[in-house]
Amino acid sequence: MRTAVVTGASRGIGSEFVVRLLDDGWRVYAGYRADKHRLELIDNQNLFCHRLDVTDNSSIRQFVEAVNGNVNLLINNAGVPDGRWRNIKEIDDQWMLEVLDINSVGPVRMVKELYDKMSHDSLTTVAMISSLMGSIDDCHSGRSYAYRASKTALNMLSVAMKKEAINDNISFLILHPGWVKTRMGGEHAPVELEESVEGMLELIYANSLEDSGRFVQYDGVDLPW
Ligand SMILES: NC(=O)c1ccc[n+]([C@@H]2O[C@H](COP(=O)([O-])OP(=O)(O)OC[C@H]3O[C@@H](n4cnc5c(N)ncnc54)[C@H](OP(=O)(O)O)[C@@H]3O)[C@@H](O)[C@H]2O)c1
Repeated sequence: MRTAVVTGASRGIGSEFVVRLLDDGWRVYAGYRADKHRLELIDNQNLFCHRLDVTDNSSIRQFVEAVNGNVNLLINNAGVPDGRWRNIKEIDDQWMLEVLDINSVGPVRMVKELYDKMSHDSLTTVAMISSLMGSIDDCHSGRSYAYRASKTALNMLSVAMKKEAINDNISFLILHPGWVKTRMGGEHAPVELEESVEGMLELIYANSLEDSGRFVQYDGVDLPW
C-alpha cells in the first residue's frame, strides 16, 4: 500500500487531499496543528492523524516517528496568508518572518526529517503547494509582500533541492492550486476545492523524475517563474 503524508490537513485543500487519497487506496498520515476540524469526520482505518506544527522541529520529529515504513508522497500544504497591510510602512516585520517560517522553511523541515523514509527504490513525489503569487514574472499588482516572498522562496528551495534529491528517486512538483474556495481563498474564489485537488492529483500521479522542479497550475498549465 502506498503511503502519503499531508501537512495542514485539518481543513481546506489539505483535508480534500486526505479524502481523495483515502478514496484512491492510500495510507495517509495527516498532520493537524491544533484542531482536527474536518479530519474528525473521516472514518477510515488507513487514516492516521497526528499533531504537526511545521515551525517546530520536535513536533515534526514526533510526527515522523509515527510514520511506519516508506513514504511515497509528501504534500507540503500547510500555509498562511499575510496581513492585509495597506502600504509599505504598515508591514509587520515579525509577522512577515512567521509567514516565511511557515510557508518557506516549514516544507524544508518536512523534507529533511522525512528524507530517509522517502529515499528508496521507487519514486517519491514531494508536492509543494505554492502559488502563482510567488511568480516574479506575474507580480503585476504587487502587495501581499510576505506571502508572495514566501512562495517565491519555496519555489527556489524546491528547485535547489531537486538537484540533490534526484539521485535518491525523489521528485519535486511545485503546484499552484488556483484561487480556491477555502478559508484562505474566501467565498468568492472561482475554483471549487474538489476541482483543484482533482487536477493536482492527476499531476502528482503523472509525475516523474524528469518532471522534477516543474511549476504548474492545477489544470496542467505551466507557470512563469
Ligand atoms: N486557497 C487558495 O486560493 C490558495 C491559492 C494558492 C495557494 N494556496 C496554498 O494552498 C495551501 C492550503 O491553503 P488553503 O486555502 O487550504 O488554506 P486554509 O483553509 O487556511 O488551510 C491552511 C491549513 O494550514 C494549516 N497550518 C497553518 N499553519 C500551520 C503550521 N504552522 N503547521 C501546520 N499546519 C499549519 C492550517 O491549520 P489550522 O487549522 O490549525 O489553522 C490549515 O489546516 C497553502 O499553502 C496556501 O498558501 C491556496
